[in-house]
Amino acid sequence: MILVTGGAGFIGANFVLDWLASGDEPVLNLDKLTYAGNLGNLADAAGNPRHQFVRGDIGDRELLRRLLAEHRPRAVVNFAAESHVDRSIHGPGDFIQTNVVGSFNLLEEVRAYWGALPEGERESFRFLHVSTDEVYGSLGAADPAFCETTAYAPNSPYSASKAASDHLVRAYHHTYGLPTLTTNCSNNYGPRQFPEKLVPLMFHHAITGKPLPIYGDGKNVRDWLYVGDHCSAIRAVLDRGRVGETYNIGGKSEKTNLEVVHALCAALGELRPGIDYTRQISFVKDRPGHDRRYAIDSTKIESELGWRPRESFDSGLAKTLAWYLAHEDWIGAVTSGEYQQWVDLNYASRKGAA
Ligand code: NAD
Ligand code: DAU
Repeated sequence: MILVTGGAGFIGANFVLDWLASGDEPVLNLDKLTYAGNLGNLADAAGNPRHQFVRGDIGDRELLRRLLAEHRPRAVVNFAAESHVDRSIHGPGDFIQTNVVGSFNLLEEVRAYWGALPEGERESFRFLHVSTDEVYGSLGAADPAFCETTAYAPNSPYSASKAASDHLVRAYHHTYGLPTLTTNCSNNYGPRQFPEKLVPLMFHHAITGKPLPIYGDGKNVRDWLYVGDHCSAIRAVLDRGRVGETYNIGGKSEKTNLEVVHALCAALGELRPGIDYTRQISFVKDRPGHDRRYAIDSTKIESELGWRPRESFDSGLAKTLAWYLAHEDWIGAVTSGEYQQWVDLNYASRKGAA
């Protein structure tokens, strides 16, 4: 069996559901259930005897020790993190706590567990750390895409905390021989994404008649990847990745934020004719330190592991919007309470500035 951390969040839950659907190996899912963790994301796994959920923190060493000893996973896939850049600007403390200290505690317990495994199991054990392209910093318009040897230059408290965890993972391989793998992926979108992130936020605002808040000039570029393609890439790295290596994962789909929002408005306009959603676009104050462009060179994972994204941006967006439209109950549940407080905090301070 494998241990997944953060498996009630957006990517982790999609990974767990894919995992259960594509094999027969059980998965133990450890998640703290922060504002971003949602058991509703795992509704499709309800009653599946191969899925076991445990609420807990990756920083809780006693809990980790007990879970590792009881369940004896052959691999750990670490998704657990604070993941939203704007939140890291408003309050970086939780990012340091989970992404740096939590990752360290997890690595320590996994190292102890792995070190005591019988030889064959030690050799085949894997610790896969899920990270981000944001650790590489920001590109100019003409710069080549990020590759695995691009120097780290994180610019936000979020990306700095992820960079720190990547460095710890690297050090645990180099120093202790822990069989690690690291993936650095570009922007994901798809079902079950918390609507603080661009695509689900714009969807939710569009259908509720609210302004579509574009930061700055809207020309920041991201490389968009459908979440199912990220999950298949992680499975490929876990299966066949070379120990100690890092793999960049991207969608070959660079778009400005304005292009993304226009595409979303057009696709929604086709599904729900009669409304011109682009009229809701409004420019708001920029994100401090806003990275201008991310782009991923995924040659390594393609040539070594034969992975390629299956979805284009248009096909992935169509699937995503169809899922959100069919799951208004999910949106309703996650857009009450804490979510509303976040919207008030983040967007009140951006009013009136374009
Ligand atoms: P998310 O915020 O949707 O989910 C994070 C999950 O981790 C939540 O379920 C939360 O409850 C859990 N969690 C947080 N702190 C925890 C702790 N201390 N212990 C246990 N669980 C904890 O994030 P996501 O978008 O699904 O991202 C998952 C991972 O992928 C993160 O490591 C992120 O850095 C990385 N990543 C995300 C993207 C993206 O576009 N979303 C792209 C590349 C990499
Ligand atoms: O690149 C991978 C990263 O992608 C992940 O590591 C992060 O966990 C994930 O949150 C994401 O970070 P971004 O900051 O790129 O994603 P976000 O959805 O917050 O914003 C995408 C772009 O859209 C960014 O340029 C900021 C802009 N934006 C975002 C919001 C929420 C807006 O213009 N308006 C908004 O309201």
